[in-house]
Amino acid sequence: MKDTIVILDFGSQYTQLIARRIRELKVFSVILPCNASLSRIKKFNPKGVVLSGGPHSVYQKNAPSLKKGVLGLGVPILGICYGMQTMMKALGGRVKEAPRREYGRALMYIDNHKSLFFSLPAKIVSWMSHGDKVESIPPEFSILAHTANTAFAAVGDPKRKLYGVQFHPEVIHTDKGLQIVSNFLFRICECFATWQLSDFIDSKIKDIKKKVKKDNVVLGLSGGVDSSTAAVLVHKALGRKLKCIFVDNGLLRKNERRNVTRVFKNHFKIDLRVVNAGKSFLKKLKGVVSPEKKRKIIGHEFIRIFDKEARKIKNAKYLVQGTLYPDVIESVSFFGGPTSRIKSHHNVAGLPRKMDLKLIEPFRELFKDEVREIAKIMGLPDSIVWRQPFPGPGLAVRIVGEITPAKLKILREADAVLDRIIREKKLYKKLWQSFCVLLPLRSVGVMGDKRTYEYAVAIRAVESVDGMTADWAKIPYGILEDISNRIINEVRGINRVVLDISSKPPATIEWE
Ligand code: XMP
Repeated sequence: MKDTIVILDFGSQYTQLIARRIRELKVFSVILPCNASLSRIKKFNPKGVVLSGGPHSVYQKNAPSLKKGVLGLGVPILGICYGMQTMMKALGGRVKEAPRREYGRALMYIDNHKSLFFSLPAKIVSWMSHGDKVESIPPEFSILAHTANTAFAAVGDPKRKLYGVQFHPEVIHTDKGLQIVSNFLFRICECFATWQLSDFIDSKIKDIKKKVKKDNVVLGLSGGVDSSTAAVLVHKALGRKLKCIFVDNGLLRKNERRNVTRVFKNHFKIDLRVVNAGKSFLKKLKGVVSPEKKRKIIGHEFIRIFDKEARKIKNAKYLVQGTLYPDVIESVSFFGGPTSRIKSHHNVAGLPRKMDLKLIEPFRELFKDEVREIAKIMGLPDSIVWRQPFPGPGLAVRIVGEITPAKLKILREADAVLDRIIREKKLYKKLWQSFCVLLPLRSVGVMGDKRTYEYAVAIRAVESVDGMTADWAKIPYGILEDISNRIINEVRGINRVVLDISSKPPATIEWE
């Protein structure tokens, strides 16, 4: 059985990062809510437990506290920030509000190089982000590191293998942070670095083969990295028993359908059914201006068409979905209500429950970068491995206002020009997304000696880590000039190009 670290989530924005760092070091990790029962934690037979940071103060009313028994599990524990504070409090230490919040880089002096800080230099830059701090520690603990402001930057009780750090070793701003995590895993928890994606692929293929006997399996392919990689993996397990459905909703980018067909049908020899449904989508969208209405119509229509197509497949018993770990991790609900829904998202992952198919979700335990790694291992082309996200409702949310075939044509052409230049200039991978938005306004221009009265297109390019927040990308002027010239010269119907310089928040990435 693979060595596993359980991370108890106290609500930190960095919890997923901790899990990824541990996996980077080839040890499997799972995230459980901080109030998970002891028996649930024990099921994973963890080699160690990490207590994440969190936004609370340990003395706040309703602040989440450490479940009784966690400290007595008999495995090493590392508390990070709030995790450290709650552990100190539970063991008889004192935590108090600090006179000043400490946020950002702090020079940290290491006082003990034996365990957590093995092989580290005498001082390192650490990343702090806390309002409270530990005032006194239980007698069994000793100081492992300090900063000018924080006497207990790191503490430990080597006998019981309990450790606490006030800083965040998981963020890149902490020097040698990965080494600290590695010391915890290998020196303290005595883990073996055996978690490997290639083993994961083999065992998933075996599982799927075992689970699916004679029946057929359906998969909604979008061309994005998650559903594409799922298709290739399940195909490897089941061959022609896998039936992929690709719905062309008429809102795709230039050549998108052709590219998907080429890769999956021609190259991977996957049973791919392409449904040409553009007409029915456009008919339903006629005259619709409201972004939310557009999204709802497209979502419903997609499900209707997918369902109809799937019913044609005999003995279909399973549905494959490319669900990822971040969609599965339970949020800790007492940290406040669910975040308000800004846009109703629709994608292949939100498929019909009523279809009565059993689910196969091969990537439920994985992060996006791990799926990309699998895609590479399984030989998917770079164009899919590194594909920028593309929303389920497609170009519909990039045409502000009513959608017409003429507008779709203009946007497709403009977007293809932008895409070509972004790739030529080697910006594609660096940007989270880069695309055109067709604006619902026309303006006056002059071309040759003639007056024009045509549409304007906006360039939207952002940098982001997860799409939750984003900065507008500072594309060099020379490249912007090229983009503008080529779009105006090559695309009929556009005489003006503008640049969207809003970040998220307060703007969103897509315009609708
Ligand atoms: P926003 O516009 O909300 O987008 O800042 C955040 C990220 O989500 C993508 N997006 C979608 N993805 N179905 C999807 O699968 C959708 O309906 C959808 N709407 C937005 C968007 O492209 C960005 O990456």
